[in-house]
Amino acid sequence: MEKLLIRGGNRLTGTVKVSGAKNAAVAILPAALLTDETCVIENLPYINDVTVLAEILSELGAKVALDPVGRIIIEPYYVNKYKADYKMVKRMRASYYLLGALLGRFGRAEIAFPGGCEIGVRPIDQHIKGFEALGANINIEKGVIYAEADKLVGTEIYLDVVSVGATINIMLAAVRAEGITTIVNAAKEPHVVDVANFLNNMGSNIKGAGTDVIKIKGVEKLHGCNYTIIPDQIEAGTFMIAAAATGGDVTVDKVIPKHLEAVTAKLLETGMKVVEGDDYVRVIGMGLPRCVNLKTLPYPGFPTDLQQPMTVFLSVADGTSIITENVWESRYKHVAELRKMGANIKTEDRIAIIQGVESLTGASVSATDLRAGAALIIAGLMAEGLTQIDNLEHIDRGYERIEQKFIKLGADIERATVDEDGNITGSSLVV
Ligand code: EPZ
Repeated sequence: MEKLLIRGGNRLTGTVKVSGAKNAAVAILPAALLTDETCVIENLPYINDVTVLAEILSELGAKVALDPVGRIIIEPYYVNKYKADYKMVKRMRASYYLLGALLGRFGRAEIAFPGGCEIGVRPIDQHIKGFEALGANINIEKGVIYAEADKLVGTEIYLDVVSVGATINIMLAAVRAEGITTIVNAAKEPHVVDVANFLNNMGSNIKGAGTDVIKIKGVEKLHGCNYTIIPDQIEAGTFMIAAAATGGDVTVDKVIPKHLEAVTAKLLETGMKVVEGDDYVRVIGMGLPRCVNLKTLPYPGFPTDLQQPMTVFLSVADGTSIITENVWESRYKHVAELRKMGANIKTEDRIAIIQGVESLTGASVSATDLRAGAALIIAGLMAEGLTQIDNLEHIDRGYERIEQKFIKLGADIERATVDEDGNITGSSLVV
């Protein structure tokens, strides 16, 4: 087993380069199955969700060359299966995009219910409603989703909830459908736009991505393309909050500042300084944050994926902050861990009431899910003494070499091995 060890107290300073967007990458890789020509995808984050997907694509028959520097070459010509291995699919949430992509390519798909972080019920009824509206028959038996269609025909689909996954999945199935598909009440997240741009580069005809009405005019054939994924808005926000939380001065580089406006606005409200450039955001910590209230919402609202890091930052605010988590019903698992570090936070349903404390203290904590893991790293950086974080597989699913990036900013953080008796080996931080 591995743990992250953090000795808190260092101010983060310097420049950090953000990786490609995870939640765009995990949709773009399956989207490449919609053609039989070669796709080259650059600025790919080298994270476990991506390596698992690359394995799934190659098991489906695609030739896949994944380069750790952030490039994948996918030759989907050879794809000859429409069923993905149950065990692989269970390892990540975004494997549901294989449904839309395989349905679009073969008119058939068999995929187990996806895995991923346990942050709520995570239904996929809106995806299914969309596929059915396009003419697919969907059956669910023993945890496997069977989708089949003689042909897919465009129609208007009104989403009951704003869903990133359903919006993207319906786009994937609709790009080669007959006629026009209109998605109403679509998600507007930057990664929805990125997937639409990728599909348009392949010859699709998608208009309106980034607004709440997306129109897709089906085309017969898609072709290969070269594409560069956008920077990861959530990773960028994580570093922005970490900079503020450590009283640091960090330039978060190679980002699209517009995608970060909700975080920037909230950090300004807490009294931090934020300077926006063309492709960077610089965050300067200005002492303890002022307490603020926060509600998570679909884009352009404050992203749920940054709620957990923000909870940590506000745990030392001057006064009481109230967070309302509107997207996921159980995204406060990190709070129990933060209490071990001295935070004073009460939760009830979707509300967290954070009474600021003077400081956090290092403790042994567990990354209960991906963003909880990122949040606990920030807590460790802020805390007095040593913090040990286990369950790193969650963090590695979504962040590329995160501790290396923090080390470059001056953090005392390292990945250590824990033997069967629980002893930590090879660490300079444990004395
Ligand atoms: C995506 O999940 C992201 N994952 C999540 O990031 C992110 O938190 C979420 O969007 C919201 O921004 C990926 O892109 C792989 P949704 P997704 O469908 O698509 C309800 C991370 O940490 N809903 O937008 O699964 C649902 O219960 C992850 O990177 C339905 O009711 O989320 C939720 O309350 C965690 N029926 C809301 O909609 C459906 O069919 C938004 O979910 C679909 C969703």
